[in-house]
Amino acid sequence: MGQFDGKTALVTGAARGIGQAIALKLAAEGADLALCDLKAEWLEETVGKVKKSGRRTECYSVDVSSAEGVDSTVKQIEKDFDKIDILVNNAGITKDGLILRMSEADWDAVLNVNLKGVFLFTKAVMRGMMKQRSGSIVNIASIIGLIGNAGQANYAASKGAVIAFSKTVAKELSSRNVRCNAVAPGFIRTKMTDALSEEVQQKMLANIPLGRFGTPEDVANVVAFLAGDAAGYVTGQVISTCGGMVM
Ligand SMILES: NC(=O)c1ccc[n+]([C@@H]2O[C@H](COP(=O)([O-])OP(=O)(O)OC[C@H]3O[C@@H](n4cnc5c(N)ncnc54)[C@H](O)[C@@H]3O)[C@@H](O)[C@H]2O)c1
Repeated sequence: MGQFDGKTALVTGAARGIGQAIALKLAAEGADLALCDLKAEWLEETVGKVKKSGRRTECYSVDVSSAEGVDSTVKQIEKDFDKIDILVNNAGITKDGLILRMSEADWDAVLNVNLKGVFLFTKAVMRGMMKQRSGSIVNIASIIGLIGNAGQANYAASKGAVIAFSKTVAKELSSRNVRCNAVAPGFIRTKMTDALSEEVQQKMLANIPLGRFGTPEDVANVVAFLAGDAAGYVTGQVISTCGGMVM
């Protein structure tokens, strides 16, 4: 018996990295999965790994920054699974550069995916969750949204806004027993961070009290806690998963 038996979880950006680890963790604890990414075929690796847990999985192609795409995808998922119990807004991108050199296009792209995407998916699932008087939304922010970072103005702004948005969702939905929390990962080893130079990586490592980079599973464990009943009295919170980088 898993804590999520009979529940449906929707995970965005589930093709790889942290999103894939979240999908595997929720499935291992019993959830059926609606997996979303830009292209459904990118989700095959995740589906292959989830299959071992015997849970139901369906894949959906959707750009989280497209209102039309998100609305029709959520409608389809509600048809396929009857209900959505858990939403994990994980899809995110970076387009780094100092503000002086940052193009409007790079600003818009990051805000559209990282912030507008979270708004669109939350808005699309909230009606169902309010009706069923239960639900848990977990948004993947970043410690950069708490402390800022030179060269990541767009990303920091988007993640800080996701934290403020999560607190607002928590306030708007708590009377319907729908909770919303954010996770703020630190430096997690994925394709996103592999792109950083060895020098930057070593500098970051020196600032991590626990002395190691995080794994996608470290983040997935916290997401599973927040998604589940063990966190039934937790809403509007941000849990940093960063080896102590931010205290
Ligand atoms: N890796 C880290 O160190 C780190 C730290 C803090 C926060 N995060 C956050 O965790 C989340 C996952 O990061 P990751 O490292 O696994 O990244 P990743 O690049 O490995 O994976 C991101 C996934 O999101 C998908 N995606 C991107 N844009 C999309 C869109 N418009 N619509 C639908 N799907 C889209 C990608 O296809 C990919 O599968 C992101 O929100 C990221 O900002 C990561």
